[in-house]
Amino acid sequence: MKVKLGKIKLNNGVKIPSLGIGTWQIPSGEDLVKSLQNAIALGYRYIDTAAIYENEESVAEAIRRSEVKRSELFISSKCWAANRTYDSVMRAFEESLRNLKLDYLDCYLIHWPYTKGEPLAWQSVNIGTWRAFEKLYEEGLVKAIGLSNFQMHHLVSFLARANVVPAVNQLEFHPGYTQRSAVAFCKKNGIMVEAWSPLGHGSLLSEPRIQEIASHYERPVAQVILRWCRHHDVIPVTRALLPEHQKENLESFDFELTEDDIAQLDALPVMGFSGLEPDHVSF
Ligand SMILES: NC(=O)c1ccc[n+]([C@@H]2O[C@H](COP(=O)([O-])OP(=O)(O)OC[C@H]3O[C@@H](n4cnc5c(N)ncnc54)[C@H](OP(=O)(O)O)[C@@H]3O)[C@@H](O)[C@H]2O)c1
Repeated sequence: MKVKLGKIKLNNGVKIPSLGIGTWQIPSGEDLVKSLQNAIALGYRYIDTAAIYENEESVAEAIRRSEVKRSELFISSKCWAANRTYDSVMRAFEESLRNLKLDYLDCYLIHWPYTKGEPLAWQSVNIGTWRAFEKLYEEGLVKAIGLSNFQMHHLVSFLARANVVPAVNQLEFHPGYTQRSAVAFCKKNGIMVEAWSPLGHGSLLSEPRIQEIASHYERPVAQVILRWCRHHDVIPVTRALLPEHQKENLESFDFELTEDDIAQLDALPVMGFSGLEPDHVSF
């Protein structure tokens, strides 16, 4: 059975599906192509990839084999941390387009903020990278431009100098890691938050406190977590290679969580955290 996902308007009017399918740590090849083909057949329209995942070609092949029109798909990729200057962003973008066999992207993100050294120096680097993104956006080569892993202290100076307000910020977000100040700041500034690793990279699925809440609804834990993300107006991007996981995740939005269960999920202690801190990553 095919599920029709709802769409949400970004700050520039572009519509984004309310659930994405991710491709991190899935090597390029037939397994990924078949998995994405299945996802598209089930109703997924938003595919999240990145140059650093080295699997954009498989995304291209899945798109080619699907019978869905390009205009119905939402394809997003990310510019890796090695590309910070105007020219290198332009080259990285062209390479992603070539790998994906597309003539435009729906969304392109700065994968990680630059955070090394003095704030005034890294702030200038980030806005310099953004100028290239703004040019790609102006030229219509990408329908929406955005960020990933930008926390509030990265965003404040960034927004003061950005000509185009980012449409999205993709953050690690799940019960046990809610990045409240970044999420609230994004909402206040019209930036849509997307959740990466919404299932804590799978680790939250065996967490007894979340299993207990899921039992109130007789629903799988994954559905409860994805519903919780949407309650917070956050768009989850899950990885689900297996068809049964893909289907289960698509069916997460036809029930409501009680305020009490939401409050319990909100109040969980830190768990499922990747350990990836934008100010301390080694790249
Ligand atoms: N912007 C960034 O810096 C950044 C960083 C990390 C990730 N991301 C993006 O976010 C995406 C999601 O994050 P993630 O890959 O860490 O994973 P995740 O969605 O939190 O968890 C994925 C794991 O959960 C399993 N799973 C999914 N649905 C399930 C279900 N219904 N029941 C049981 N198990 C289920 C998957 O299994 P199977 O795959 O075997 O089905 C996989 O092992 C990535 O793929 C990537 O696109 C972005």
